[in-house]
Amino acid sequence: MPKILLVGGAGYIGSVLSQELLERGYAVRILDRFFFGDQGLAAIRDRVEVVQADMRRIEAAHLEGVDTVINVGGLSNDPTAEYNPAANYEMNTAAAVRLAELARSAGVRRYLLASSCSVYDQGIADDQRDIVYDEDAVVRPRAAYAVSKYEAEQHLLAMAGADFCPVILRKGTVYGFSPRMRFDLVVNTFVRDALANGNIVLFRGGEMWRPLVDVHDVARAYIACVGADEPAVHGQIFNVANCNMRISELALRVRTTLRDLGIDVDVRPDYSYRGVRSYRVSTRKIERVLGFKAEVPVEDAVRDMLGQLRDRKVEDLNHPKYENIRWLRVLEEAEAILGSSGSVFDLPAATVTTLPRRAQR
Ligand SMILES: NC(=O)c1ccc[n+]([C@@H]2O[C@H](COP(=O)([O-])OP(=O)(O)OC[C@H]3O[C@@H](n4cnc5c(N)ncnc54)[C@H](O)[C@@H]3O)[C@@H](O)[C@H]2O)c1
Repeated sequence: MPKILLVGGAGYIGSVLSQELLERGYAVRILDRFFFGDQGLAAIRDRVEVVQADMRRIEAAHLEGVDTVINVGGLSNDPTAEYNPAANYEMNTAAAVRLAELARSAGVRRYLLASSCSVYDQGIADDQRDIVYDEDAVVRPRAAYAVSKYEAEQHLLAMAGADFCPVILRKGTVYGFSPRMRFDLVVNTFVRDALANGNIVLFRGGEMWRPLVDVHDVARAYIACVGADEPAVHGQIFNVANCNMRISELALRVRTTLRDLGIDVDVRPDYSYRGVRSYRVSTRKIERVLGFKAEVPVEDAVRDMLGQLRDRKVEDLNHPKYENIRWLRVLEEAEAILGSSGSVFDLPAATVTTLPRRAQR
């Protein structure tokens, strides 16, 4: 059974991918810091090896017996990258590259890196750059997150050789239900806001383009890259998306799907200034080279998400754990407090209590 080291395997994508790898007979070792807990692994915990560690401290021992590395760990959006750019660089670039070096030294040939179509982002100010980008396009990433992904890509691609096969997956914005749920991804946010507030807000009127893809399709794309013949994927970049859609159209599709399910939703444009991302991509290369085509449309994913949320009785939709930036801030605040007061319910370490001295007789 080929063994996969899945870094970040307890995350939104990792929780789905680990399950799909197991279903196809792969052995899975998950290495994760568990920033968002381990509930994403609840259904498979007894069938995977779990290493609780920081990806910046990966050791050769973590690669023992491993055939392929998939790295879906690190900070996974703009707000968290901008909140702590140094940590973002350490995880998304430095640790990703160090892991590649360790893998190559350990004789692990194939390494799949989770990159992002946000490397193509040029904003919405420049109509001339509003084109469909393929993997050969010259990119000029702007934000900390996109830059960190692009730099990791560049380092890894330079390592491609007779003994090492890096593969880069630039994914669009992912949607759909995962047992480690995120509501800070546009489709999921729309569903959450529709259910919690009865409305969907369109920043900048929703004129931005975005490539979108279902989380199960993402898992299938990784698995296609794991199983492909080496020459097909060696040192290659693949865009992974189902479709490119303006956010305004996306909102209307989500509204229609929810209305068909009896949920009334208002769509409200907000034209106030917001830094927004906009880009669209071609997926012809992954279709041509690997025969991979994303299958799950937004509407199906929305229906499934609703069913899963109801079946699992998920009601705390606005909990910070579902939004990476809010949750990491909560963790930081808790750490600062616990650092001085000790862990929550355990007895704090013995303290020296100074009582007033009795007067000596
Ligand atoms: N979700 C998307 O729409 C999307 C789109 C494009 C690219 N990506 C990329 O795909 C990857 C996975 O995204 P996701 O949505 O599953 O994100 P996520 O935040 O849900 O998962 C990331 C996982 O990595 C773990 N992690 C973070 N820092 C770590 C560290 N220092 N050491 C060990 N583990 C650490 C977290 O605990 C978490 O389980 C990320 O690299 C992200 O940038 C995601």
